[in-house]
Amino acid sequence: MSSHTESLERLGLRSPVIQAPMAGGGDTAALVAAVNEAGGLGFVGAAYLTDAQIAERTLDVRSRTALPFGINLFAPTPAPGPVPMMADALARVAPFYAELGLPAPETPSHSGDGFDRQFAALLDSGAAYYSVTFGLPPADSVAAAKARGMRVLGTATTVAEAVALEQAGVDAVIAQGGEAGGHRGSFIGDPAANLVGTMALVPQVADVVGIPVIASGGIMDGRGIAAALALGATAVQMGTVFLTCDEAGIPEAHKAAILTAREDQTRLTRAFSGRPARGIVNRFMEAVEDPAAPDAVLPFPLQNALTRPLRTAAGKAGRAEFLSLWAGQGLRLAQRRPAGELVAELLHGTEAVRRRLGG
Ligand SMILES: Cc1cc2nc3c(=O)[nH]c(=O)nc-3n(C[C@H](O)[C@H](O)[C@H](O)COP(=O)(O)O)c2cc1C
Repeated sequence: MSSHTESLERLGLRSPVIQAPMAGGGDTAALVAAVNEAGGLGFVGAAYLTDAQIAERTLDVRSRTALPFGINLFAPTPAPGPVPMMADALARVAPFYAELGLPAPETPSHSGDGFDRQFAALLDSGAAYYSVTFGLPPADSVAAAKARGMRVLGTATTVAEAVALEQAGVDAVIAQGGEAGGHRGSFIGDPAANLVGTMALVPQVADVVGIPVIASGGIMDGRGIAAALALGATAVQMGTVFLTCDEAGIPEAHKAAILTAREDQTRLTRAFSGRPARGIVNRFMEAVEDPAAPDAVLPFPLQNALTRPLRTAAGKAGRAEFLSLWAGQGLRLAQRRPAGELVAELLHGTEAVRRRLGG
């Protein structure tokens, strides 16, 4: 038995392919189930769901697949402090509200992150994996998940974060490179500064931690998966490549943007949520984020709440210029197709590369 097979088994994985949790609607129950049934591991990004919605979504997943799946949450974040430039932040997005025919934006409020209730729903969901991003999983959540037989995963963007996660008791660390689409998972230092690429990050993390490493960021096909395994990863967590699948729940305008953008057209932005995330550059990003007035973008999650009505309306109207077009740097390799077909091709492509390299 190869040591790669052993570390897959240690994590209870049937293959190295993990579909990234994608909070905000990308990872529908249909996507999670299709990934599972084709031999990957499907994940539900539940960070923006209430406890009732988590229960509903996981029932839906379980009605479609009996295979193990995961649930991801954002680690609890402290409530944002006083906001000096609230009026400026509202004024900056107001013209876009008007352009979409929406009433003027209202001051967003933060009513707590709801982590405890979300986690209680997660524990009862039947999920086999619990992962977090944006921080360490609270110690009692690690203990409770493990007591239910779940495996616990955490996201790191540096070696220091990976070590902190290992010390917190996770079963594996997701090493998220700077190429990755969506939010930076960083929790030590400035998230916008922690942009070590996947190729550099994975072996450095693998050399330091004693737990399996899951590579994430810019991996789009069998070549990328085989490369990640060669660097010492046990598995890969892929987001962007699943977003253009038929089952993905993002607006068609977002899928079209991924299928037509170039690899140099993504960048980090705080404009949509207040936390750095990688997406395809569009008009909203360019207009809202002004280096001369960084405080006119509210801290997470207030900016997220402020822009939500706009993003919802833009999705319905097919207006990509107002959507958070999250995507990683590998986007040219994305294709429109059913998720089952994609997973089969990923597994086949990985084996083909390994054979070609003589492994
Ligand atoms: C649309 C989108 C939403 C995401 N939402 C989450 C999330 O809720 N939780 C999480 O841990 N990671 C999230 N991520 C990051 C992924 O876990 C992963 O690190 C990233 O997709 C890997 O890079 P790739 O997109 O180049 O494959 C998201 C990524 C995207 C593209």
